[in-house]
Order: sequence, then C-alpha cells, then structure tokens
Amino acid sequence: MCSVIGRIARYFMLAVVLFIGGLASHAADDSKSGGPYVPTPQVVVDQMLFMAGIKSSDYVIDLGSGDGVIVLTAARLFKASGMGVDIDPELVKLSNDAARKFGVADRVHFLLQDVFKADLSKASVVTLYLLPGMMLSLREKIFNELKPGARVVSHDYHFGEWPPDDQMSFDVPEKEAVNGVPMATIYLWRVPARVAGKWQVRVAGGETYELTLKQRFQNVEGSVTTGGKALRPQYLTLRGDEFTFALPDGKGSASFTGRVKGGTMEGSVELPGAKSPARWSASRTAAAKVITD
Ligand SMILES: C[S@@+](CC[C@H](N)C(=O)[O-])C[C@H]1O[C@@H](n2cnc3c(N)ncnc32)[C@H](O)[C@@H]1O
Repeated sequence: MCSVIGRIARYFMLAVVLFIGGLASHAADDSKSGGPYVPTPQVVVDQMLFMAGIKSSDYVIDLGSGDGVIVLTAARLFKASGMGVDIDPELVKLSNDAARKFGVADRVHFLLQDVFKADLSKASVVTLYLLPGMMLSLREKIFNELKPGARVVSHDYHFGEWPPDDQMSFDVPEKEAVNGVPMATIYLWRVPARVAGKWQVRVAGGETYELTLKQRFQNVEGSVTTGGKALRPQYLTLRGDEFTFALPDGKGSASFTGRVKGGTMEGSVELPGAKSPARWSASRTAAAKVITD
C-alpha cells in the first residue's frame, strides 16, 4: 500500500516538477529539451555506477551531464573513461575544469552538444537523468546505436515499453527539497543482441535444429523443428549478447548457453545423460525485425 501511495505521490510531484521545469527551461533556454539542471545526489551516482558494474575498461557516456558528476565519479573511483554532453556551456566548462582538477582529463571530457547528436559508438555504459518525454524520445537512438551488452542506467525515469532488466528504489532524504519525494529509483537495461529470425543450430556430433525467434526488446519467444518434429524451447533468456534456452529431449532437457555475434551464435550445451557439455553453434538463415514499440 505504502509503495502505491509513494508511487502516486512521486508521479504527482513529477507532474509539478515537469510543469515548473518546463516553464523554467522554456524561460531560460528552449533547447534544454531534456529538462533543467538538477544534479544527481552523490549517493545515487554511486549506486548507479555500482548497478552498472563499472570497470576500468568501461567507456561511460552521460547524456545531459550537468556538472559532470557521474562521469567524473566513474573516472575517479573506477578508473573508467568517458564523456558527457550537455547543452549548457557553463556546465560543460565547469565539468572540463573539474576533470583537470581531479587529474582525469586524459580519460574524460565534456562536449557542448545536444543529446541527439552524441556519438554513442564507444559507450559500454550510458547514464541518464532526463525528463520522461526525453527518455522516450531517446529510446530508439540508445537501442539502435549501443553495442549489445552495453548497460544503460537511469535515475528516476524509464523507457516506457522497453522493460528494465533490473531496478531498485531507496530513500534519499535530500531529494525531498528538490522534487518533494525523498527517494530515488534506478533502472538498468542491457542492450540486447538482435536474434529475431531463423537460425540453423548444430550440436557438435549431434542433432541439427531449425530455430525461429521473435524478439520484442530483450524478450524472446521461439519455436524449433528437428527432423520434421516440432519442439517448444523453454526459458529463452537474452542478456546483452548472452543467449540461453532449453529444449525438451526424450530423456530430459538440453540446456543451451551461448553468445551472439552478429549472424552467428556459439556456446555449450548440457545434454541429458552426457558426462560433459558439448559445443553448439548457429548461423542465421533469415533475419526478422526486432519489435521496439
Ligand atoms: C537533471 S540534469 C542531470 C545532470 C547529470 N546527468 C546528473 O545526473 O547529475 C539534466 C541535464 O541535461 C541537460 N540537457 C537538457 N536537455 C538537453 C539536450 N537536449 N541536450 C543536452 N543536454 C541537455 C541540462 O542542461 C541538464 O544539465
């Protein structure tokens, strides 16, 4: 019950913030289409980076980077690289000055740029704290331009129909003064590989299967035929470029685990009764559209 009331309160306050934020940004700068500058509290930044599992090999891009706190923290605490883009020149200067001050300017930089123009090709992690309408507008760019397996972490707002892979809410008392709600929600998505279409699956030294997959965002459904017999695959799970599924077999269930690389997949399969896993591979024989609405 509390969480329902909390959610209603949050959406009510969001509407107020959107209205005020909309008026403020309209008055100050029409191009701040993602909303006004409201920094993410450090405790939330830390949790966002923790949830994304940041490593030193990551390249983090914050879209609408404000004072740069997310990218700067990723560089200082996790030795990651990255960049931020923001439409406000003063915030971009402030962020680049801070990068120099903290000795991380060789790894991170900040650009004066609209979020829609940002080059996301290097990103392994994208972070966001932008208004709901901007989140929906950016969804297609993020889904299409990021590499499979890239993580996307957002503070408070989500991508609508694209369900998050994980989310958490926690108390942040200092947010009450900013938007009237003393809590934060963090959402995590893993950009899925594109697996929609028909695949020919070969188990080394064993069966060949025709696998047909339908995909909506990261959710996958499928059907399988082998030797003229139809099988119903189970537990189809796509996590970035990792794809797992199970196939019923006369003696039990065969568990497939693999990685998608463009038009191929490969991995290992545990066959019922077998002492050790076998290798499997697949190639796509026909592509199909991934549904993203
Ligand atoms: C809520 S703040 C978030 C700042 C920072 N990401 C954080 O979490 O602390 C949103 C930022 O997005 C910027 N912004 C809004 N619309 C933008 C756009 N169309 N292109 C680039 N930046 C934008 C604003 O200037 C502001 O700094």
